[in-house]
Amino acid sequence: MLTFDNVSFAYGQQAVLKNISLQIMEGEFLTIIGPNGSGKSTLSKLMNGLIQPYLGQILVDRLDTQSPQNLKEIRQIVGLIFQNPEDQFISTTVFDEVIFGLENIAVEPDKMQSIAEDALKKVGMLSYKDVEPHKLSGGQKQRVAIAAILAMKPKYIVFDESTAMLDPNGQKSIMTLMQHLHDEGFTIIHITHLMEEALKATRVLVLNGGVIVAEGAPVDVFHNSRVIENNELDVPLPLKLKGRLSEAGIVVPKQLVTLEGIVDYIWTSN
Ligand SMILES: Nc1ncnc2c1ncn2[C@@H]1O[C@H](COP(=O)(O)OP(=O)(O)OP(=O)(O)O)[C@@H](O)[C@H]1O
Ligand SMILES: [Mg+2]
Repeated sequence: MLTFDNVSFAYGQQAVLKNISLQIMEGEFLTIIGPNGSGKSTLSKLMNGLIQPYLGQILVDRLDTQSPQNLKEIRQIVGLIFQNPEDQFISTTVFDEVIFGLENIAVEPDKMQSIAEDALKKVGMLSYKDVEPHKLSGGQKQRVAIAAILAMKPKYIVFDESTAMLDPNGQKSIMTLMQHLHDEGFTIIHITHLMEEALKATRVLVLNGGVIVAEGAPVDVFHNSRVIENNELDVPLPLKLKGRLSEAGIVVPKQLVTLEGIVDYIWTSN
């Protein structure tokens, strides 16, 4: 479990997160949304001790992020994937990129090769192992960044707008990979501006002005018009469609939140 207990954070004099209390359970797929500057990235950096709160406590499986001796272990347990994969690359081949992280933790050298290969296989990039990272597409680069994290055998993976720089196909493929990793048992924490991506979560958290202003199942959060209006959010397309259909007298069940599901329902209900 990842626990925030009354956490406050400031950059200099500017308070950015105020009194955040939050528990993220193993196996969740938590999506965090909210306007620009609301503190989402700051929250993600606190999760693996990249930055420290000035008040409160953050525990990663009972390890306090404020104890320097815990940081190495915490950074293995909580992997962070950022928006721009280029910022994360330092090696000359895809394979070395994944090996690099392993050299920093206590992995027996003769096991490194198979761990790196398994991780690349999981993200569908094993056949690119000798390619230079900068020659890959954006989506492929993100896959390699994810493989480098997977090789460390994390429990929690935090994606901070990891699809934002990708084309629609790249976005879709990274979302599919995220869902696949969640199915395999990884805890996913996903920060996004794309409301349709948020529908995939088991829980959505809305941050505004450094405060958690709403949380709940995606359908509940997005059906709350006050939350949508007050936090510069948009209603995901499938839910907009359901609203229009309901005005026309066609009520689609609440739990159906994909375009395919809605179309199927209309198709079979007549
Ligand atoms: N390194 C920094 N130094 C000073 N202020 C910062 C720094 N990083 C972020 N901030 C400020 O902290 C606030 C929260 O930023 P943060 O990046 O956490 O927001 P965000 O919700 O991730 O925004 P976005 O949606 O634009 O990514 C903003 O006002 C931002 O300007
Ligand atoms: Mg951000």
